Amino acid sequence: MGHFITFEGIDGSGKSTQIALLKRRIEQCGHRCSLTAEPSTGPIGVMIRQCLSGRMKADEKTMAALFASDRLDHLLNETDGILSKINQGIYVICDRYILSSYAYQSVRVSLEWIRQLNSAALDTLRPDCHIFIDIEPETAIERMAKERFHTELFETKERLTEVRNRYLELIGQLKKKENIIIINGNQAIEQISDDIWQNISKFF
Ligand code: TMP
Repeated sequence: MGHFITFEGIDGSGKSTQIALLKRRIEQCGHRCSLTAEPSTGPIGVMIRQCLSGRMKADEKTMAALFASDRLDHLLNETDGILSKINQGIYVICDRYILSSYAYQSVRVSLEWIRQLNSAALDTLRPDCHIFIDIEPETAIERMAKERFHTELFETKERLTEVRNRYLELIGQLKKKENIIIINGNQAIEQISDDIWQNISKFF
């Protein structure tokens, strides 16, 4: 059996860089490792991306349901589903998973309903470890301004602050049930990568 590691954080928290570094370390240990992300590249994920960019419109409840459906499809589809990779012994690192829905959608939609929507996915595959990269919203906004030409639906400072607070509150509540690591994302890239590596070893 492989392992399932998920990365979480507000937009601009540096997840992509750390995911690439973690993949390299896992491969150096002789394991196969596959990277993926949510929203996925599948049909429901494509629809979600259109909503995030403003090309398509959907209300927040519909968005919550779309994220949960995309997640199940991402796990179970027969073309490149996560579950089949795990069953082949591959380590899968996913950029965002359930905690993203809890944190982002619960700012506007009932958390209890979001949990119900996502329970099928969590029962299907529970991460060995969720890695939350914590960063100040101001720093995240500065980084995104340097790296991108457009902003998406959730990328205002107020919204990122709300989402970060939701993440921290939820992690406090879920810590007993889930393996969640909080990493200080305001440090140098190499230091963050070392912190992640030291912390995840205990789950394998
Ligand atoms: P990304 O910028 O990490 O690719 O994620 C796209 C956006 O989608 C980001 O603003 C977070 C948001 N999102 C949710 O609101 N709920 C979810 O369940 C997921 C996976 C992402």
